[in-house]
Amino acid sequence: MGKLNGKVAIVSGSGRGIGREIARKLAADGASIVVNDLDDTPAKDTVAAIEAAGGHAVACTGSVTEDGFAERFVATAVDAFGGLDIVVNNAGYTWDTVIQKMTDQQWDAILDVHLKAPFRVLRAAQPVISAAVKKATRAGEPVPCRKVVNISSIAGLGGNAGQVNYAAAKAGITGLTKTLAKEWGRYNVTVNTVAFGMIKTRLTEAPADGDGTIDVAGQEIKVGVNPQLLAAMEQLIPLGRGGTPEEAAGAVYLLCIPESDYVSAQTLVCGGGFMI
Ligand SMILES: NC(=O)c1ccc[n+]([C@@H]2O[C@H](COP(=O)([O-])OP(=O)(O)OC[C@H]3O[C@@H](n4cnc5c(N)ncnc54)[C@H](O)[C@@H]3O)[C@@H](O)[C@H]2O)c1
Repeated sequence: MGKLNGKVAIVSGSGRGIGREIARKLAADGASIVVNDLDDTPAKDTVAAIEAAGGHAVACTGSVTEDGFAERFVATAVDAFGGLDIVVNNAGYTWDTVIQKMTDQQWDAILDVHLKAPFRVLRAAQPVISAAVKKATRAGEPVPCRKVVNISSIAGLGGNAGQVNYAAAKAGITGLTKTLAKEWGRYNVTVNTVAFGMIKTRLTEAPADGDGTIDVAGQEIKVGVNPQLLAAMEQLIPLGRGGTPEEAAGAVYLLCIPESDYVSAQTLVCGGGFMI
C-alpha cells in the first residue's frame, strides 16, 4: 500500500530531468500522474516508464505558457483519474545574460514560464479543489489534505549573476506560495516551495549528444554551465557534489506525503547543504 494510493498528481515539465523523477517517484508510491512536456516524445517516455513500473499515467503535451493550457492540464486529471490532489509546478528553462544584454523577450519568456504559468495552473485548479471540498463537507466526510509544490531555485533566494529574469521569477514563486498557503488553508491544501541548488540535468550539464542548446517554441536557447565553473561550484557544496534528479525528486516527495500535512508556506532548500 503506497502512501499516495488513490491520489492524482499533475507534474509540469515531467518529460525530462527533475520533473520526470518527481512523476516516477509519486507514481511509485501509488499516485496517478498527468505528465506534461513541450513535446510528445519526452512526455510519452515518462508515461511509458511509469506504466512499465506498474503505475498509472497519461500525457498532456504542450507549453505551460499557452493560453488555455492550465485548464486543459487540470481537466486531464479530472477526466482521466477523477480528481486532483497534488500539483507540482516544475516546467522551465533558463535564458541567461547580464542585465544590459537582456531583451524584453528574454525577461518575459522566463517570467511567463516560471511564474505566470504556475499562477494560471493554480487558478485553474481552484474550482476543482473547492468543489471537491464542498462535496466532502456536505457528505460529512473528512477533507483530505491536498498538496501544491512549486519549484524554485537558490537563485531565487540569493540572486545569481546573469539570471536577473530567472532569479526574479523564482523569487516571485515564493510570494505566490506564501499567499496561496493563506488562501487555501481553508481547503486543507498545503502550499510549499522546493528551491534546488545544483542538480545535474541538462540545465546545468550541457547534453553530451547535442551542442548545448535547446529548442523552446522555435527559439534556440543555450543551456549548460561551463564544466570548470561547475566543478568549482561543486567545491562550495558541503556534500561535495551536485544532486541527482532522483535526490531532487525526494525533496518534493517529502512535501506530498501525509507526514507533511501540517507543513505549509515553507521553502525547502535541496542543495546539499549549500548556503547562500
Ligand atoms: N537543474 C538545476 O540545477 C536546477 C536548480 C534550481 C532549480 N531548477 C528548476 O527545476 C525545474 C526542472 O529543471 P531541470 O533541471 O529538470 O531541467 P530539464 O531541462 O532537465 O527539464 C525541464 C523540463 O521542462 C520542460 N519545459 C520547459 N519549458 C516548458 C514549457 N513551457 N512547457 C512545458 N514543459 C516545459 C522541458 O522540455 C524539460 O523536459 C525548473 O523549474 C528549474 O528552473 C533546476
